[in-house]
Amino acid sequence: MRLSIFILLSYLSYTLASRKSSNAQNSVPLASRRSLHVRGGSLQSPVSTLNLIDGEEMSMTESRILSDSTVFPLTLKCSSDSKKVDVAEWVKVNRDRLVSELLPKHGAVVLRGFDVKDEEAFSRIIKSLDLEEQPYIGGNAVRTVVADRVFTSNESPPTERIPFHHEMAQVPRYPTRVMFYCQVPSREGGETPIVRSDEVCEILRGEFPDLYERFKEEGVKYVRLAPMDDDPTSALGRGWKSTFGTSSREKAEVEMKKDGFEWEWKDNDELLTKSKKLSAIRMVDGKEVFFNQVIAAYSGWNDSRNVASRAVVFGETGDLLPSATMKAFIERVNGIAVSFEWKQGDVLLIDNRQVMHSRAPFVKPRRVLASLAR
Ligand SMILES: [Fe+2]
Repeated sequence: MRLSIFILLSYLSYTLASRKSSNAQNSVPLASRRSLHVRGGSLQSPVSTLNLIDGEEMSMTESRILSDSTVFPLTLKCSSDSKKVDVAEWVKVNRDRLVSELLPKHGAVVLRGFDVKDEEAFSRIIKSLDLEEQPYIGGNAVRTVVADRVFTSNESPPTERIPFHHEMAQVPRYPTRVMFYCQVPSREGGETPIVRSDEVCEILRGEFPDLYERFKEEGVKYVRLAPMDDDPTSALGRGWKSTFGTSSREKAEVEMKKDGFEWEWKDNDELLTKSKKLSAIRMVDGKEVFFNQVIAAYSGWNDSRNVASRAVVFGETGDLLPSATMKAFIERVNGIAVSFEWKQGDVLLIDNRQVMHSRAPFVKPRRVLASLAR
């Protein structure tokens, strides 16, 4: 039997109605039914077409059908002998479709069941995607580089939930794609909930119109007191030295000027920064998205130096965000999220312009690595 690679396109409509109706299921992923094409002979396989088989059931927490019939996230699953598949090569061959078609359309794509052993294997996949590298300048999380273009995901304590955010949306130079890889899934918890920000924006506009108007008209500013050195006990404990890649105050100031920060040096070499006014709602591919760091800052930027409810303010007036409305809004967002549960070897590609991610608390060990690209 000839060697073949089957990609199982795992989509589901999880409503009872769609389960009952195979027609309903079949009508959804038309575009996804097209074969992913492997151009001649680069794999040790005579097969040039990756067949798509849909209909595999996944639990409701792992995928949703959105109102526009898009599967979120899209899972591409290798069901042949993964040891015989060079996943980095496969990604290289299918790069254009992955990056230019599937990722913008679905917002998140999971590669599952491939043999991705370690950080080096993930690093090769990243290089195959052929995207411009995004340095982690201006981000808040403590991270460690473990391979070329690969670093640990936020190293904050496992007991802490990291709220929804777009990666680095609090600075003007942010990555457009975020890639995660799970080397070791946690035994308990540790999911990466994801949510489409166009859906979030729709909820905001329809159910919280006053808040929507203020975000849209005023934008927001982010305020953070950073330590000098990394503080791994905090989810936003990245010291200003690693934030700006320098131990010189003058060089840090050059970086801050570039991004339009206001700043003040404090006792103990701490640094108080206030971002310039940034949009809270933006247009991406013709859709309005809730692109910002508002939820993360408002509900998560708490530590010995910072108070979350003061970490983000309206951009014109400097007013604090209205607490009761924010609470109700965040609850609604959590309610439409997909709680992505990691399996060993999973690679998750996220379009950072239109999808927010977060992290559930977990029990160690867990090793999820990340890479950023423009
Ligand atoms: Fe993140």
